[in-house]
Amino acid sequence: MQSAPFVFGRMAEGENFTDREQERARLSQNFLSLTNTMLVSPRRWGKSSLVKRTLQDITAKDRRTKTCSIDLFNVRNEAEFYEQLVTSVVKATSGKWEEWLAAAKEFLAHLRPQLSFSGDMHEEITFDVEWEKAAKKPDDLLDLAERIAKAKDCRLIVCIDEFQSIGGFKDSLAFQRKLRAHWQNHQHVCYCLYGSKRHMLLEIFTDPSMPFYRFGDIMLLDKIANADWGTFIVERFAKTGKRIAVRQAERLADFVDNHPYYVQQLAQLAWLRTTDECDGETIGAAMQGLTDQLGLLFSGSVESLTERQMRFLKAVLDGVELLSSAETLGRYKLGTSANVVRIKEALREKEVIDISDGKVEILDPVFKHWLTCEYFVR
Ligand SMILES: Nc1ncnc2c1ncn2[C@@H]1O[C@H](COP(=O)(O)OP(=O)(O)O)[C@@H](O)[C@H]1O
Ligand SMILES: [Mg+2]
Repeated sequence: MQSAPFVFGRMAEGENFTDREQERARLSQNFLSLTNTMLVSPRRWGKSSLVKRTLQDITAKDRRTKTCSIDLFNVRNEAEFYEQLVTSVVKATSGKWEEWLAAAKEFLAHLRPQLSFSGDMHEEITFDVEWEKAAKKPDDLLDLAERIAKAKDCRLIVCIDEFQSIGGFKDSLAFQRKLRAHWQNHQHVCYCLYGSKRHMLLEIFTDPSMPFYRFGDIMLLDKIANADWGTFIVERFAKTGKRIAVRQAERLADFVDNHPYYVQQLAQLAWLRTTDECDGETIGAAMQGLTDQLGLLFSGSVESLTERQMRFLKAVLDGVELLSSAETLGRYKLGTSANVVRIKEALREKEVIDISDGKVEILDPVFKHWLTCEYFVR
């Protein structure tokens, strides 16, 4: 059986990656001019895919640019942060493990690092360093990228995903101050910091009292435009000998608000149901399939929300804009306007909603569809 020409749940690469021309150009330009960049969007809108693609574009053209990426998703403290940073910087700037060891010995001499291997092909190589101890005097660790890049006469792009995690470290502000103080002096390294909790990241980057204020260019990543999805879906179908009209492809993307992850998932479901040509009915059935498939998950998330939070979501779905007006408070039984503030914060914390320019939006388009068509009609 032919495999479906759509991907979700892993990074979009090669021919699975579409559009983002402008974002790629801006990001490339930033990287090449060593302008630090903060990239922010809700989860699954395509940050990781975009960064990876841009790094590939750059390294394909310029061999003197090295890149390294770390993910702070499971990193809970400074010591773990340094371990990730140092290990990936050394690996990114040295070809073979012999070189890694040499670099580690040269640049981290005082830590007396040893390499340890696990697995057959030296796949898993780690530095044996007492990171907790090293974290007490982190200056060398924080300047490592710069020192290596300078010594090797290359340019290094350090990408850090889920950067908002550092907000949860002990003494986070002091830690952020340290990072900023070192990184802003780097002449051969550029930092790309990104993550999905918009309000937390914007607080870190745009609050004048915070250490990372004005650290670089802030990019708020958007979803991909409907017309681009149309072209992409038509092409992907054609590639496998199936057909879909542009108008239908655009409708498909529209069903899930052009949300990158869901467009790919829905397109896959529609493709699987198509033998020859995908029509409106097939798309409708695919959307129903997707909603059913996720329904169980959504029932679970609803259980973790309070009744008031659910009534608040109902008001949002009904298109109510003045969410703390006396009328809304009464009609949806939301209590006081102070309650509404708390509800918003809690829902934002759970990444159920996002608030930009005062407008509340439910982030997951399929959840939204399920609430409207199933949950609230029961
Ligand atoms: N440029 C793109 N072209 C096509 N699909 C994309 C693109 N960017 C993201 N996607 C889809 O969205 C999903 C999530 O992308 P990802 O880069 O992991 O997002 P994030 O890092 O923001 O959570 C991918 O698995 C893919 O299905
Ligand atoms: Mg990601």
